[in-house]
Amino acid sequence: YNVPTATNEPIFSYAPGTPERAELQATLKQMRSEVIDVPMYIGNEEVRTDNLFAMTPPHDHKHVLGHYHQGGKEHVQMAIDAALAAKPAWENLAWEHRASIFLKAAELISGPYRMKLNAATMLGQSKNAFQAEIDSACEIADFLRFNVQYMTEIYKQQPMSSKGVWNRVEQRPLEGFIFALTPFNFTAIAGNLPTAPAMMGNTVVWKPSKTAVYSAQVLMEIFKKAGVPDGVINLVYVSGPAAADVIFNSPDFAGIHFTGSTGVFQDIWKTIGNNIHKYKSYPRIVGETGGKDYIFMHPTADAKEVATGITRGAFEYQGQKCSAASRAYIPASKWDEVLKFVQEDLAKIKTGGTEDFTNFHNAVIDETTFDKLASAIDDAKASPDAEIVAGGEYDKSVGYFIKPTVIQAKKADYITMEEELFGPIITIFVYEDDKVDETLDILDQTSIYALTGAIFAGCRYAIEKLVKRLTHTAGNFYINDKPTGAVVGQQPFGGGRGSGTNDKAGSMINLLRWVSPRTIKESF
Ligand code: SER
Repeated sequence: YNVPTATNEPIFSYAPGTPERAELQATLKQMRSEVIDVPMYIGNEEVRTDNLFAMTPPHDHKHVLGHYHQGGKEHVQMAIDAALAAKPAWENLAWEHRASIFLKAAELISGPYRMKLNAATMLGQSKNAFQAEIDSACEIADFLRFNVQYMTEIYKQQPMSSKGVWNRVEQRPLEGFIFALTPFNFTAIAGNLPTAPAMMGNTVVWKPSKTAVYSAQVLMEIFKKAGVPDGVINLVYVSGPAAADVIFNSPDFAGIHFTGSTGVFQDIWKTIGNNIHKYKSYPRIVGETGGKDYIFMHPTADAKEVATGITRGAFEYQGQKCSAASRAYIPASKWDEVLKFVQEDLAKIKTGGTEDFTNFHNAVIDETTFDKLASAIDDAKASPDAEIVAGGEYDKSVGYFIKPTVIQAKKADYITMEEELFGPIITIFVYEDDKVDETLDILDQTSIYALTGAIFAGCRYAIEKLVKRLTHTAGNFYINDKPTGAVVGQQPFGGGRGSGTNDKAGSMINLLRWVSPRTIKESF
């Protein structure tokens, strides 16, 4: 059971003059110059169709990186059949072999494939080098290594036995197949959602976001190279309705591992409920969904620290992290100072494509997202209840660029204090210093979400009060730090309320959702 001790993958800085920077830049240049052909991977086949879709960088949407082959319902069924066919051999393979395959995948990701996977994330999803590195090199390797360790701990835990009686628990994989529906914003999450159930002996149908096909394809190449057998993970590019129609009507549907929007997750839950009589078992429903993540500044907090929390927490990766701060509550006595620091930070930020490593800020993921964010900015400009105090410009002529934007809300329930936008926009409500309690009530009640939250305070009594008062407002809670950047093995990630089932990505809790234990009592 002594698998290699998991440790967090060290992060490359890509600072000027480092060999990693030169290598990543050369890889980006090479991958930009190609036009690749991306098939689906079903069983032992690479499947191509006549329905081709272009992959373009969000920061340069006229450039074509390649085309992927979009499938239909028949391909979803093929993927289910392949997953079911692969299941007996995979679930009977001793766990050590499954562990070895995923440890090997982690070595490939952090070693020979590091630049390729980072470059695919940078080109396909417009992450800058550092944001790609912490995601598609480090976090995915961490998920694989820590999950292998958690898996062995799960298998090791056994009940008590007594003289003449031997009790044991067998952690069987679920009966059927798992559906992994993955988002664009983290390549690590796209890698974790199919591999966590697969590690526990399940086989998977994987549908990635249509805006993150490039990195999904590279991940699949890595999984194959690491030795994941044909049919264990099947990668299909299909529309949501085509996938839903086949997956949720299958009697063998055993569970879904999801990260995406709250609306889609709720629709899926309802569909599963309506079809519940069709399934052999109650399906496992594991999802991480939306957020309206907050920063609460107590009057005793330091303005510079809060400003850094806002700039990094709200604007890294264009605010497209589930954890990104998108609302803040700042006391009136500190507002001028905080705003000045934020404006100074934003003035230093450079915006542009990901191939220029001096750009901190890049494009948002696609035109639909761009249009939604631009319209929220226009609404704020027109509203008597809001004022744009930083940013507010946008331009989609070359890429989908929205400047980091700060909206000051004049009412605590202004629409963007409550509704998720998923982009580089934070809305701030300035409260009277003597109204801390009332403001905490508002914070607690104005959002349906509870993913991440950060409090800043300089006084221990205030910290204790805030920690207690805000118990149910966040699954990941930060004291004097930004609310993003959870590290696998250190801050297990996930939220409650409308933000998901809180089955903590990269934890034993999550892996336990992919097994159905059988308790065996043997008497002598
Ligand atoms: N795990 C990421 C973070 O903490 C969000 O998905 O930022």
